[in-house]
Amino acid sequence: MSYRLRVNGTPQELEDGWLGESLLFVLRERLGLPGSKNACEQGECGSCSVLVDGRLLCSCLVLAASALGCEVTTVEGLGGPDPTALTDVQRALVEAGAIQCGFCTPGLVVAVHDLLERVPEPGDWEIREAISGNLCRCTGYGRILDAVQRAARLRSAARRTSSAGAG
Ligand code: FES
Ligand code: FES
Repeated sequence: MSYRLRVNGTPQELEDGWLGESLLFVLRERLGLPGSKNACEQGECGSCSVLVDGRLLCSCLVLAASALGCEVTTVEGLGGPDPTALTDVQRALVEAGAIQCGFCTPGLVVAVHDLLERVPEPGDWEIREAISGNLCRCTGYGRILDAVQRAARLRSAARRTSSAGAG
């Protein structure tokens, strides 16, 4: 079958697909977007996290065909127009030393971005709950928690600067 998905704001035509393909497979293997990682393919680790119409989902558990007509946002689509620039969340993870092997990082970036969009100044338990679906086998989570708080501060400062500029 042929079908069309909208990914990171761009319509994508897919040919020779089959109904059972996961969204993760299509993103990585058909569309060349390797940011979403394939670690467990069972919804256990969160390394494949994406936003589908703004909802945080494990793309390994979603059939690509069920995302027709939806807006899919991957980690590659979270930044600004310069694809080489780090997002505030990525910067905070680097600065907090929260990246070791990096396999969990893209999924964490998507989950933290989702949290900060919903809860701009999250408390410790809100952060823990938001990343509870993202397994990290390396860091022990302490630095990840620091990074999320740092990202929240960066985002608040950016908001204050832009509202001062607007006023
Ligand atoms: S690869 Fe999807 S949750 Fe682990
Ligand atoms: S940094 Fe290795 S799994 Fe998280």
